[in-house]
Amino acid sequence: MTDTPESSPAVLGLPDPAGLNEFEALPPEQWAGHRRILLELFREHIYGQPPAVEPTITCDLRERVADACEGRATRHQVDIVLGEGALRLGALIFVPNDIASPVPAFAGLNFHGNHTVDPDPRIALPRAWVASNRAETGCDSNTASDASRGLAAARWPVERITGRGYAVATLYAGEIDPDFDDGFANGIHALERDPRGRGSGGTIAAWAWGLSRLREAMATIEGVDPSRIMAIGHSRMGKAALWAAAEDLDFAGAISSGSGCLGAALSRRCRGERIADITTRFPHWFCGRCADYADREHELPIDQHLLLGLIAPRPLYVASADQDHWADPEGEFLACVHATAIYRKLGRSGLGLDPSDDAMPPALPPLNRSVGHDVGYHIRPGHHDITPLDWWHVLNFADRQLKRPGH
Ligand code: GCU
Repeated sequence: MTDTPESSPAVLGLPDPAGLNEFEALPPEQWAGHRRILLELFREHIYGQPPAVEPTITCDLRERVADACEGRATRHQVDIVLGEGALRLGALIFVPNDIASPVPAFAGLNFHGNHTVDPDPRIALPRAWVASNRAETGCDSNTASDASRGLAAARWPVERITGRGYAVATLYAGEIDPDFDDGFANGIHALERDPRGRGSGGTIAAWAWGLSRLREAMATIEGVDPSRIMAIGHSRMGKAALWAAAEDLDFAGAISSGSGCLGAALSRRCRGERIADITTRFPHWFCGRCADYADREHELPIDQHLLLGLIAPRPLYVASADQDHWADPEGEFLACVHATAIYRKLGRSGLGLDPSDDAMPPALPPLNRSVGHDVGYHIRPGHHDITPLDWWHVLNFADRQLKRPGH
């Protein structure tokens, strides 16, 4: 008996609900139809529908100072206002000074407030609920305080990002939807039109929706190129970034770090966090039907390589860490391998590795080596986090994929 490579679609039983395997190449107009089928399946079975709210926003510029990053960047604080002001999302946007033309950009959500990203005391504290965790949020009252200013700065190397010629923007996810199981009574859900059902979106869909509003707000800022804004996120915010770029074709691409279960990792491997774990601990993140797949991953009509495929042909980068077993780094890598089949059908190279090319499954690349083309991947030593080293790889990838002569 010959061993079948563990990564092969046959062993994992990876589904092909849109019939993509029948095509050698997909003309763009045909891909649109297949893409819609896949998107609807992800909505129906995992993330749910986007929030049923009026999408129109207005932007209220609260602050614009040119002295950020020791005078090398301009910081904007913008309130993204929904409806008559029923919800205000505070965006923090940095744009490099001294640029000849609009620059590409990253848009990502933060876990505990914009003030954790940069210690400058002029950055507004969030108004929304924050987790009571003294180490990370400096509070035990669900109210943000000065104690957590700058605590997440290592995850947001703003000087380095702007120094490399990119704008970067962030928004506190809890302002879109607080991260606890509250019966969808607050945040954006409080503004929803219809009664909720099993197919309604959960918190990840709400965060993804909010990321699109952040993208729109960035597009109003001088110096940002609206056609080159990538969604980025770590862990649960990585899941949101991938889903945002799947839902919103105006994102130029997506970057996930340690997004794991129902992010970049293949569910059918059943390694690390499983659907039973995630839907028990975080029942509010997904649509009602998702929990039906607890211990029944093989019955899902899709798997996460197809979520990555929904980002095609736009650039996609996936980052893992070798000790982050909960996020199943190998499952993240293999999802990139299998998503490459879609990139190839669209005339792109993807990761440049195709499981059908070789008898053996593609192996994880060596630590710290970034591989791929329009799909990029690296695994670094260490734990669940997004570090300056991850950003360094991401910036190199963005240089290759998004930069134009001059910028
Ligand atoms: C938990 C959760 C993960 C998530 C992570 C995070 O570990 O189980 O799915 O990605 O939190 O957001 O840090």
